Amino acid sequence: MNVLISSDDIQRRVREMAADIRRDHPDGVHLIAVLKGAFVFLSDLARALPGRCSFDFMAVSSYGKRSSSSGQVQLLKDLDAGIEGRDVVIVEDIVDTGLTLVCLQDILRARSPRSLRTACLLSRPSRRQIEVSVEYVGFTIEDKFVVGYGLDCAEQHRNLPYIAVLDDDPGAT
Ligand code: IMP
Repeated sequence: MNVLISSDDIQRRVREMAADIRRDHPDGVHLIAVLKGAFVFLSDLARALPGRCSFDFMAVSSYGKRSSSSGQVQLLKDLDAGIEGRDVVIVEDIVDTGLTLVCLQDILRARSPRSLRTACLLSRPSRRQIEVSVEYVGFTIEDKFVVGYGLDCAEQHRNLPYIAVLDDDPGAT
């Protein structure tokens, strides 16, 4: 396993992203984190974000033990509260094919938030299958499966404080 992005670099970038989000949402923001992968990013982002901030969570089907997208997004847990008229930022771990995020954005936009933006810690544009707008991107990475800082491979490695590349990609087809 090789470190791709160190813990220090992540923390620095997350603070910058929090400053950008605060600048764009001076009246406060409603953060919606996508479980499970975004939980570590959300936790650091939220603590770097001064001022009014509320939270909700969604869970969607993930790759499980595979490392390629099926293109199917299943809503496993919906929000606890409505978002009509609210300034919402989706908090995601990584945008890869973009299929998950496009689906989530469509679902949330249909609920009439006042604004809807997206923050992703990582983006892997080389694998994009659909155009998707992400206002806040932490790091752009190359075409390697990564783990750590919330991201898993078969539910392992989420607890690493850095982003790492797996030498052996067990889920590759
Ligand atoms: P997309 O729909 O292909 O953009 O996939 C998004 C989701 O797939 C992310 O929210 C992650 O949960 C998962 N994912 C994509 N790439 C990786 C990776 O390199 N490591 C771990 N999970 C990943």
